[in-house]
Amino acid sequence: MKNPFVYGEPVSRENFADREEELERLKIEILSGQNVIIYSPRRFGKSSLAYNALLELEGKVIPIWIDCYGVLTKKELAEKIASQVLQHWRTKNLFESIRRIFKTVIPKIKIGEKIEVEFSIGEEERAFEEALKLPQRLAEHSEKRVVVVFDEFQEIAELGEHVLKKMRSEFQWHRDVTYIFIGSRRGMMEKIFHSAQSPFYNFGGHMVLKKIPKERFKAFVSKKFESTGVKINPELIEEILDLTECHPYYTQKFCHELWYLGKLKGELTLEDVKETFERMIIENEASYVEIWDSLPISQKKVLLAIARGEKDIYSTDFLVKYEFKTASQVQYSIKALRKKELVHRINGSYEISDPFLRHWLLWRFGRE
Ligand SMILES: Nc1ncnc2c1ncn2[C@@H]1O[C@H](COP(=O)(O)OP(=O)(O)O)[C@@H](O)[C@H]1O
Ligand SMILES: [Mg+2]
Repeated sequence: MKNPFVYGEPVSRENFADREEELERLKIEILSGQNVIIYSPRRFGKSSLAYNALLELEGKVIPIWIDCYGVLTKKELAEKIASQVLQHWRTKNLFESIRRIFKTVIPKIKIGEKIEVEFSIGEEERAFEEALKLPQRLAEHSEKRVVVVFDEFQEIAELGEHVLKKMRSEFQWHRDVTYIFIGSRRGMMEKIFHSAQSPFYNFGGHMVLKKIPKERFKAFVSKKFESTGVKINPELIEEILDLTECHPYYTQKFCHELWYLGKLKGELTLEDVKETFERMIIENEASYVEIWDSLPISQKKVLLAIARGEKDIYSTDFLVKYEFKTASQVQYSIKALRKKELVHRINGSYEISDPFLRHWLLWRFGRE
């Protein structure tokens, strides 16, 4: 029997909990051609949400998924877009159609399990401009709406402002394409889509993905255990979600581990939950120590303070207690911790992103 808790990749269908309102809204926006910008801390389920929306719209739209993670050059980006577009280009003979698809460049095309496009060195700029036109061309050719998802879009911003400018000035003419931009680094995403100087200012509606509400996550977790023959009472599920703070990824990861034990014993107890949680922290200790050792002292203090649930980290009391000279030192540390994705801001306060790390910090350095 397969473990019913899945993590580490976008989840879909029966592995996808809740998000009903978000899914509905996203589908409507896609069909009506309204671009959407989705952001949340890492591993909250952004890719899963977009993926499920596309699955549910199968047949109605043509999905183009561009994973921007690790894209280092315009050429690579152009090749990703072009390869995806060709994948969906219905024609009797792709090679004969190439001149009609690409008007100013002739790329190399490899047709294997997937289609791969390669542009020549020296024609990057033209190739990039041409690739940006392809989604609209595909929509016209197939007479269907095209949806382009740029996952981890903040990476593209690193390629430079001129890249964003080019993209924006092309995409704004695409009447039959909906663009979805997904990003984890909130500061970066806000700079791209909120700042009046940015080329992508006001390019779409914003969607901030929160954690999954406890009651709904409870129902999902309970069903997964029960339907695979593992008995677990509702208070235990409550306990699990308190430990994982309802974080989608860490909840799945924890339940995945717990499930093996459940399968062995047939029924889980509070002891099992606590022991499994502690074991997982111990297994990860080396990486937590490495993170801790890599931080300058000011960031260590702020990280620990957030783990301890200190709310007013700019107050005089806080500065005195943790021996900071000014509030701007705290601000600077927060910024660095956010950039490293060790903490995130949610509902107006800061949180340690990994609940296991949070427990390790409290266990190692105390709650007070
Ligand atoms: N709606 C959901 N229901 C259940 N688990 C989810 C859900 N969304 C995300 N997850 C869990 O979190 C993990 C990370 O999801 P993913 O979509 O890759 O996040 P992101 O794109 O925000 O980094 C998934 O592998 C899965 O374990
Ligand atoms: Mg993702």
